[in-house]
Amino acid sequence: MATRIDGKVISAQVLDEVATDAAAFLEDYGIKPGLAVVLVGEDPASQVYVRNKIARATESGLNSIEHRLPIDTTQETLNQLVAALNVDPAVHGILVQLPLPAHLDEEQIIAAISPEKDVDGFHPVNVGALSVGKESLVPCTPQGCMIMIGKVLGDDLSGKHAVVVGRSNIVGKPMAALLLQANCTVTVVHSRTNNPQALAQQADILVAAVGRPEMIGADWVKPGATVIDVGINVIERNGQRKLVGDVDYAAVEPVAAAITPVPGGVGPMTIACLMKNTLTAARRLMSDEL
Ligand code: GUN
Repeated sequence: MATRIDGKVISAQVLDEVATDAAAFLEDYGIKPGLAVVLVGEDPASQVYVRNKIARATESGLNSIEHRLPIDTTQETLNQLVAALNVDPAVHGILVQLPLPAHLDEEQIIAAISPEKDVDGFHPVNVGALSVGKESLVPCTPQGCMIMIGKVLGDDLSGKHAVVVGRSNIVGKPMAALLLQANCTVTVVHSRTNNPQALAQQADILVAAVGRPEMIGADWVKPGATVIDVGINVIERNGQRKLVGDVDYAAVEPVAAAITPVPGGVGPMTIACLMKNTLTAARRLMSDEL
């Protein structure tokens, strides 16, 4: 029977620390750390994510500044908004919710955000810093996964074999970089990998981030592994809509030593780490200005 790694409990601890830091920041500088959240269009999932991000920011004592733009917003308008936020002293963190509508160039918008305010950690400057092990704003989901892994296995992950399933820029690649930095032996498994299951079976730490409902069954998991499920998939079962991960929780739970549930696992950690990054960015920006 695996330990259930409770993202709600661990994220509440992170958010408590953020709230304490935000209060100290207000005391030090007379303003709240500011997070600007930009949503273009009306994608239902993005609306839910943005609502949750704003709610957590407000609860943690941050100033959240919401910008909702219509689906037909031009690249130029979005660029102008990002340029204005880059120089706004009340804004310490900028998040443009992805995916953007198809006519907008995501890569260009990410590159337009000031790296100092890039609380998603997606800007090439921050991606590069992470890949050479320098201090940077680290993408929120992999950062949250590392905190959860640390709660189970402690700080020293040296020599552990970590297998990351999925190679997205948002999760798979930065996750692999963080595990490597933590001295794991890292394997990244993806759609072109030969026999991914055999590789996954060797993992001490298995991170699933592919976006395929319940793809990882018990026969993918080494007994005693720590399993982190990043997937959030909506499926229809017995006529009901249900949220499931990339891991078949019921099947894997008896095999693993520890496993994250969906929902209530990685999801709340991502948001908590976004708040943490906003505090980090705010502190750095203010100390640069002194
Ligand atoms: N869409 C899904 N996950 C994320 C995320 O972490 N950041 C942003 N900006 N958009 C997302």
